Amino acid sequence: MIPVMRPWLGAEEAAAAAAAVTSGWVAQGPRVAEFEQAFASAMGADHAVAVSSCTAALHLALVVARIGPGDEVVVPSLSFIATANAARYVGAVPVFADVDEATQNLTPATVEPCLTSRTRAVILVDQAGVPADLDAMRAFCGPRGITVVEDAACAVGSVYRGRPVGAGAYLAAFSFHPRKLLTTGEGGMLVTPDSDVAARLRRLREHGMDLSAAARHASRQPVMEHYTELGFNFRMTDIQAAVGLVQLSKLDRLIARRRVLAHRYQQLLAAIPGVRTITDPGYGTTNYQSFWVLLADDFPVSRDELLQHLAEAGVSARRGIMAAHLEPAYEGSARHPLPVTERLTARTLILPLFHELTESEQDIVVSVIAAAGRHAARAGARS
Ligand SMILES: Cc1ncc(COP(=O)(O)O)c(C=O)c1O
Repeated sequence: MIPVMRPWLGAEEAAAAAAAVTSGWVAQGPRVAEFEQAFASAMGADHAVAVSSCTAALHLALVVARIGPGDEVVVPSLSFIATANAARYVGAVPVFADVDEATQNLTPATVEPCLTSRTRAVILVDQAGVPADLDAMRAFCGPRGITVVEDAACAVGSVYRGRPVGAGAYLAAFSFHPRKLLTTGEGGMLVTPDSDVAARLRRLREHGMDLSAAARHASRQPVMEHYTELGFNFRMTDIQAAVGLVQLSKLDRLIARRRVLAHRYQQLLAAIPGVRTITDPGYGTTNYQSFWVLLADDFPVSRDELLQHLAEAGVSARRGIMAAHLEPAYEGSARHPLPVTERLTARTLILPLFHELTESEQDIVVSVIAAAGRHAARAGARS
């Protein structure tokens, strides 16, 4: 079976994890601090704060932005459900906005109809790794007093206007789940230019403690910690950070390889009528975290039939990005019309793309799509 994604993990990560285990310090400690510094510097950010997942990162971002009950947070429905859930965790109401068809991201034009006097934040997702237009969103939201939180779960190493995604954000959240380019098993990271915000995030991820566990253990004197506000256990472990440090050192190679493979897919798929592929937006480059294709309305087989053909040929593809408003967890939630979201979620699929994918495996994927289109078109012509 050709998987949709296989993390690029090896002996180096295994040795780093083993070294963390044998060091005797496995919880959040020196390796997490080192990973944070390396990540901040790689992303061109001032501060990076490691957490247990991107979901936790989004939750904390809304806490520090002081979003709470009575507030509305505009989010794309076309995203992994964690984006919308984060608003609910702080007691706010997620309001679903539609997306731009080319980038699958929110724009000021799609957010505008969702604004009310209660709108306090927008979660701007860099969907599938395609950078969203952050400057445009901040220019739109800033004068209205609306905070923009960037959900860069998929976008590590993508480039926005010449800088790494996250570098220009007030708060940006990354994921290190194995479906992402860079993995620590589970894990997440927040970046921010604000040192006070970073300090508060560090406290909040550790039960609201005013002194980290690592600092307490390093002290030769008895120290009394205090719990300044309601916090969480959103810590990353040193074992995960050890793996993350190795993964981060591979990021440039990971992205270069993905871009080569993505361009090859784009060229091969261009020969099949009715198939449109993900591509770079005009203002940046994507890391191709997920390689989606959109089937035109007149493509001869449905998206689900095509997934079936691929599965029968040993190819593990996936439906495109989910739409949260169609899930039972959001049943009955008030919403604006979401025509682009509903079209994209029904007619897109995600093809295998990972570091060690071979050209012959890619050729198999493309040939199944081409054959499915041809056979169905012929059958249609006969009937
Ligand atoms: C856009 C988006 N936001 C948030 C998340 C949640 O990330 P995590 O699994 O690290 O909590 C994901 C994960 O797929 C995602 O794609």
